[in-house]
Amino acid sequence: TSSLTVLGIESSCDESAVAIYDTSAGLLGHHLFSQIELHQVYGGVVPELASRDHIRKIIPLIKQLLNEVGEQQNQAVKIDAIAYTQGPGLMGALLTGSAIASSLAYAWKVPALGVHHMEGHLLAPMLEPNPPAFPFIALLISGGHSQIIRVDNIGQYELLGDTLDDAAGEAFDKTAKMLGLGYPGGPIVSKFALSGDPNRYQFPRPMLDRPGLDMSFSGLKTFSLNTWQNAVKQGDDNDQTRADICRAFELAVAETLTVKCKRALIATGMNRLVVSGGVSANRAIRASLTELMAQRGGEAFFPRLEFCTDNAAMIAFAGAMRLQAGQQNPSLNFSAKARW
Ligand code: KG4
Ligand code: ZN
Repeated sequence: TSSLTVLGIESSCDESAVAIYDTSAGLLGHHLFSQIELHQVYGGVVPELASRDHIRKIIPLIKQLLNEVGEQQNQAVKIDAIAYTQGPGLMGALLTGSAIASSLAYAWKVPALGVHHMEGHLLAPMLEPNPPAFPFIALLISGGHSQIIRVDNIGQYELLGDTLDDAAGEAFDKTAKMLGLGYPGGPIVSKFALSGDPNRYQFPRPMLDRPGLDMSFSGLKTFSLNTWQNAVKQGDDNDQTRADICRAFELAVAETLTVKCKRALIATGMNRLVVSGGVSANRAIRASLTELMAQRGGEAFFPRLEFCTDNAAMIAFAGAMRLQAGQQNPSLNFSAKARW
């Protein structure tokens, strides 16, 4: 089969991102503009501001990327297809990327394909030099999802476990907010955890006393809040206490995820684990899951750090895999699926 050059567009939340993936040459380039500064003063993502900023940023990012990749190749880039994040995410933000993708596809007379954001995350480790072979167990941990999935091939996914309440990333974000650490919470909590004492607080290990692969993280968030409020009462509300809470919280999340993954591996007899989504950037969680796989004589696969969180490389890649298998949007109509 001939190679396919795919432009990927990601705009589901607070990152405007574009990338070009070629099925023979690999990732040709990618750019990302983060809206963190725009939303920081509000303590979280403001959907309307996100949509407006995507409108401002995506087309200039595409122009810049096409120019750069064209210069590298000494000729204009020929895009064969466009893949965009169709959902889940913020409706207005998704519509921005979908509309731009569909308009360009119409103008360039190439197909456009809507991609599931979480399939992008799931396949992101395949952009790395030593990609996992099928089948494998995937742990998807992001701001909106915490799922354990059996992956037999591209498009062959079986959901084995899910969170019953908050996603892992959501628990990080809420813990950060309660401690007054701001948004986005994950990277700040990880940073504070570095100087935390792991023995000062003992957090619970939710759902480990029950069989099965489902998870729950809202209890940990409440435990962080209660621990912090007690510290405030005792006049102990300082950065060392914050760090100790962050460390204990992070350890509890890491251990819970590790035990659930171990169960999934045993139940399916698999020895490859793919870990992806924003929370997979967390050092303690990566270490714990890497150790699990070393103990089991298997292997853990992660995206590079910048592709753990939202990016368009994973969307271009997932789209390329599906387009290569013959999938296309049925018509020029497009829709965003906020709750896909
Ligand atoms: O995949 P992502 O960028 O967006 C979604 O699809 O949700 O994930 C964002 C989530 C946020 O909750 C963020 O706090 C969390 O990933 N996150 C982290 C770290 N970096 C980002 N959580 C823990 N440790 C990190 N280093
Ligand atoms: Zn994401």
